[in-house]
Amino acid sequence: MEALRLKQKKAKKNEKDESKIFEEDITSEINHGIRVSNLAYHVAKRLGLYEDQCHELAVAGMVHDIGKLRVSGYLYGRDKDTLAIEEMKYVRMHSRLGYEILMRYDYSDYIVESILHHHENYDGSGYPENLVGDEISLSAKILRVCDVYVALISDRPYRKAFDKKTAIALMIEEVKNFDMRVFLAFQSVIHEEELEELWEDQAVVVGIVESEED
Ligand SMILES: [Fe+2]
Repeated sequence: MEALRLKQKKAKKNEKDESKIFEEDITSEINHGIRVSNLAYHVAKRLGLYEDQCHELAVAGMVHDIGKLRVSGYLYGRDKDTLAIEEMKYVRMHSRLGYEILMRYDYSDYIVESILHHHENYDGSGYPENLVGDEISLSAKILRVCDVYVALISDRPYRKAFDKKTAIALMIEEVKNFDMRVFLAFQSVIHEEELEELWEDQAVVVGIVESEED
């Protein structure tokens, strides 16, 4: 009887832990989406894209990692050694999963295609299709640069946020991953101080409300 009670208590605790992880993940995903969205919009504008394309990029920035919600192992019961987990193959599936989710709704080809390729690298070392150079669309190249920068200037479970200068230095070391025209437009945008608060940490907090039956 005592063993059963302990088991039930442990199950309840695991449920709470999972819900906490879910809240943390959703909150950080939403914050990440907002910041990538704002930055991508301005980089697109700086590159002279039409207003409707800039808007589409803002939408793509918001939902670019939606595929992670399908990678349930990533959200639930994960080990906090996230660095190792991010290397894992199933996390690399999220761009295709995101593409598949959004294809079922009314998102434009421009948006879904940029999400499918937001982890492609200019030198061909990205995923899921190892596209090279101009095989990658301009919109996906913009998302790539913005996504990397926002990730670097954000706290992660395994490290603190890098400051802006360090983040740029790290990106320059890996500049082979980026389209140079996009990278230069990105650099000119992030050096504009009046825009900076758009990709600073947002105060969005997501909470899960427990139902009455619990
Ligand atoms: Fe991603």
